Amino acid sequence: MKTSFSLSGLVRENVKKLIPYSSARDEFSGKGSVFLDANENPNENGVNRYPDPMQKELKLRLGELKGVHPENLLLGNGSDEVIDLLFRAFCEPNIDNVIICTPTYGMYEVAAGINAIENRGVPLTADFQPDVDAVLVAADEKSKLLFLCSPNNPTANLLSESKLVRLLGDFQGIVIVDEAYVDFAPGKSLIDKLDKYPNLVILQTLSKAWGMAGIRLGIGLASKEVIRILNRIKPPYNVNCLTQTKALELLKSEDSYKDQVKNIIEERDKLMVFLSDLSFVEKVYPTDANFILIRVNNARGLYDFLLADEIIIRDRSKIKSLGNCVRISIGTNQENTILRNSLTKFDLKS
Ligand SMILES: Cc1ncc(COP(=O)(O)O)c(C=O)c1O
Repeated sequence: MKTSFSLSGLVRENVKKLIPYSSARDEFSGKGSVFLDANENPNENGVNRYPDPMQKELKLRLGELKGVHPENLLLGNGSDEVIDLLFRAFCEPNIDNVIICTPTYGMYEVAAGINAIENRGVPLTADFQPDVDAVLVAADEKSKLLFLCSPNNPTANLLSESKLVRLLGDFQGIVIVDEAYVDFAPGKSLIDKLDKYPNLVILQTLSKAWGMAGIRLGIGLASKEVIRILNRIKPPYNVNCLTQTKALELLKSEDSYKDQVKNIIEERDKLMVFLSDLSFVEKVYPTDANFILIRVNNARGLYDFLLADEIIIRDRSKIKSLGNCVRISIGTNQENTILRNSLTKFDLKS
């Protein structure tokens, strides 16, 4: 158990004092059958009622899947909403700062900007691992959040668990480990560390392995105390009823999810071998995710060539330390064949 951690000392004063909005559906307990409390249109059409603000049924199912109590879960309109709530709960605009281990997912920096919070970027080491000492040197008493992404986007690698554990022990604020791609990785989630580290917040999402990017459902996993604070400030009905219903339906298909993950990993490994043989590819980075980062001799040229064949990849070459790098998501077998054909054409002309 981490000692010397004061959650209350990290929470913004206005959040501590806030009287949260109390929605109609929060205010009664017991059984209701005639709902005249929320100014809804009473004519049934499947969506005329407000959704459950606390998503109880969905959290029960996710709790079962993740092996945690529903009180350790916060659901958001994508993990992007959970990221924003973390800023609003813990970071005082124009006063506090956050540390982001870069290069990484761009929304942490954007959320910092939106919330007027200084971003202290600390570069990952040459092998894209956290530089623990540099993070601790960059941090001061105003450093409220530390963002780490494992497997990291766009570098695709898992972060070293022992380094994450050191940071959980030594960083004085909240440590956010974004596990959006963990389902594709051989290592396991840090969920079993939640009891030991009250400063740990894990982000997961249904947008990747579970195939539900379109319904927007992100998951925050943390201590009950942290979740209670985030619940106080979240928009009351932040997960709509279509999302809750669809997620519950698709979360029943655990076998199909597992088959799809297995298939994506097989396709990824085939593509890794193929890419390594192309003359214009200078480096294929190891991957623990559903995408591959490669360094080529002319990132923009490759991007434009594939675009002409209607294949869209992500040009990451503008990012410091990722010169001439592009990121390629793993598609279906058929899509990957189309990609390979186009890459072969590019190789012949290079
Ligand atoms: C590391 C990482 N976290 C979070 C997200 C966004 O997740 P969501 O769709 O749940 O907002 C992404 C999307 O690409 C991502 O790469």
